Amino acid sequence: MKRLLVTGAAGFIGTNFVRRVLDVRPDWTIVAYDALTYAGNLANLAGLEATGRFEFIHADICDADAVAAAFDPRPWAVINFAAESHVDRSIVGAAEFVRTNVLGTQVLLDRARRSDLHRFVQVSTDEVYGSLGQEGRFTEHSPLAPNSPYSASKAAADLLVRAYHVTHGLSALVTRCSNNYGPYQFPEKVIPLFVTNLLEDQPVPLYGDGLNIRDWIHVQDHCDALLRVLEAGVPGEVYNIGADNELTNRALTYAILHALGKDESLIRPVKDRPAHDRRYAIDSGKLRRELGWQPRVDFAAGLGDTVRWYIEHEPWWRAIKSGEYRQYYERQYGAGGVNAPV
Ligand code: NAD
Ligand code: DAU
Repeated sequence: MKRLLVTGAAGFIGTNFVRRVLDVRPDWTIVAYDALTYAGNLANLAGLEATGRFEFIHADICDADAVAAAFDPRPWAVINFAAESHVDRSIVGAAEFVRTNVLGTQVLLDRARRSDLHRFVQVSTDEVYGSLGQEGRFTEHSPLAPNSPYSASKAAADLLVRAYHVTHGLSALVTRCSNNYGPYQFPEKVIPLFVTNLLEDQPVPLYGDGLNIRDWIHVQDHCDALLRVLEAGVPGEVYNIGADNELTNRALTYAILHALGKDESLIRPVKDRPAHDRRYAIDSGKLRRELGWQPRVDFAAGLGDTVRWYIEHEPWWRAIKSGEYRQYYERQYGAGGVNAPV
């Protein structure tokens, strides 16, 4: 039995990854580790104990003692999803981003370097490369130029991973993926936010001119890429992950409106995100050539499935979109908010 420690397991991508691994690797056990912040949801992992190959630890990656306990017995490998992940929240306050994304990663690395792991995979983002103009795509050699406190904290963590590999010989590597969509995504991110707002006949707040471009990948394709990198990636390397699917936010919004049979009167133009990266596009040729991965989910089909998932899991998102979330939404999108209506 291979023991895999998955930090940030109760979030969007962590949940999809844990579920996938339990399905396709019957000889692996998962130790899911999560602080259950506003974005972590234990309900996402409900029922997995029944596999007999799953255990959950409720703890913070900044807590060195709790991390040490999770390393006993020694895991075969570690994959770190734990992070503060929402750009807009990092603009309002960056402290928690630096604490979890930078300090937390360092705490994990410090324990990992004494553990003779097969791999330590740091799940990072294309946002560390900054913003593109009309031409070109990010490669692993693109300079790091993060523009938000979120992406700066992720870039810092990437560099710590590199340093622990070079200095201590840790078998660590970094992946950088583009925008994910799919089930279990917290409804602060644009796709689940717009889908669930529309299901309530509420307007959808489109930033700026709506022409910023994101490069979308289904979370299942991201998880399969991570599994491949975890098993066969070369320590010290960086692997970009993407599915060649660039879309303006406006085009994305129309696709969602169409999928739900709603009309454009529900689009509400709002103030733009400060330092809003104009375009992301990721070149994942290295991962495809060297590790034989390729994406499988067609965007139109994947978006349709995702919309259906939110329709069929209304209690899941309604439980989130209450209390604290309502206050967040009002602070962010209400009059005087960073993204107030224009
Ligand atoms: P998420 O916000 O949905 O989940 C983050 C999880 O980390 C939550 O379960 C939360 O409780 C947990 N967490 C936060 N602080 C913690 C701490 N101090 N200790 C332990 N757990 C803590 O995020 P996500 O979208 O699933 O992203 C997962 C990872 O993938 C992040 O590192 C993110 O930077 C990266 N990433 C995300 C995307 C995307 O499109 N969502 C794309 C590329 C990379
Ligand atoms: O590229 C990878 C990154 O993708 C990850 O590292 C981040 O963790 C993840 O949150 C995501 O970042 P983005 O900032 O691109 O995602 P978000 O869903 O917040 O926004 C996507 C686009 O939609 C962006 O151009 C801003 C726009 N937007 C977003 C929201 C929340 C709107 O127009 N309106 C909105 O209400």
